[in-house]
Amino acid sequence: MMECVSQDGKVKTRTLFKQLQTDHINLRLVIDILCDTFYSWRSENDPEHSPGTISLMCQAVDYIQAYPEHYHHPLEEAAFNFCEANNLGPHHIIQQLRQQHKLLEQETPRIRTILDWITRQIPLTESDETLFNRYIAMQKHHIDIENRYIFPTLARLEAGDWWNIASCMALQQDPLFSAGPESQRQFDLLLNSIRQRSPIAKANKRRSLIENITV
Ligand SMILES: [Fe+2]
Ligand SMILES: [Fe+2]
Repeated sequence: MMECVSQDGKVKTRTLFKQLQTDHINLRLVIDILCDTFYSWRSENDPEHSPGTISLMCQAVDYIQAYPEHYHHPLEEAAFNFCEANNLGPHHIIQQLRQQHKLLEQETPRIRTILDWITRQIPLTESDETLFNRYIAMQKHHIDIENRYIFPTLARLEAGDWWNIASCMALQQDPLFSAGPESQRQFDLLLNSIRQRSPIAKANKRRSLIENITV
């Protein structure tokens, strides 16, 4: 375990739950950028700007695979296991969320493939666009359901509970919002887009960086 364990080996009480909350704010921002960029590209269809625009969308999807799917989902799944083993939280919602993780992880590579087709100037079909719309809606819906129905339960867990949940996991830094410049380089366009967004987004990023530094 990395930043979430102090030198005496104890999990810092609220860190993991706070990380999940921050992940949702950050992921929602990346989803918005992906969605806005896609529709801007569709409406403008400006070949001069397309290479950068398409690369930005590719970076957004690559980030989703590199961190939310690689680390955030498994940490949530471990928390779901703990909740079920201890009769906490709504069982049917947990089952639904697990299914959504599987579905989202199946759909993300399909979205990446659509972006590869765009890069190769293969025209999109109506069903590609439907797939993209459905994917964006699924991502937003998933975050919303977790925030509403399972995060209130996770918020009540104690430090020892989080130790049980995460002690077997190799924890990972967010390569976009919490990592150093070296790791962030692969997401340079995405990072630029985040910086150009609202002051709230900048504040979220700053908060994420500060939390990472002070943990
Ligand atoms: Fe999730
Ligand atoms: Fe989540």
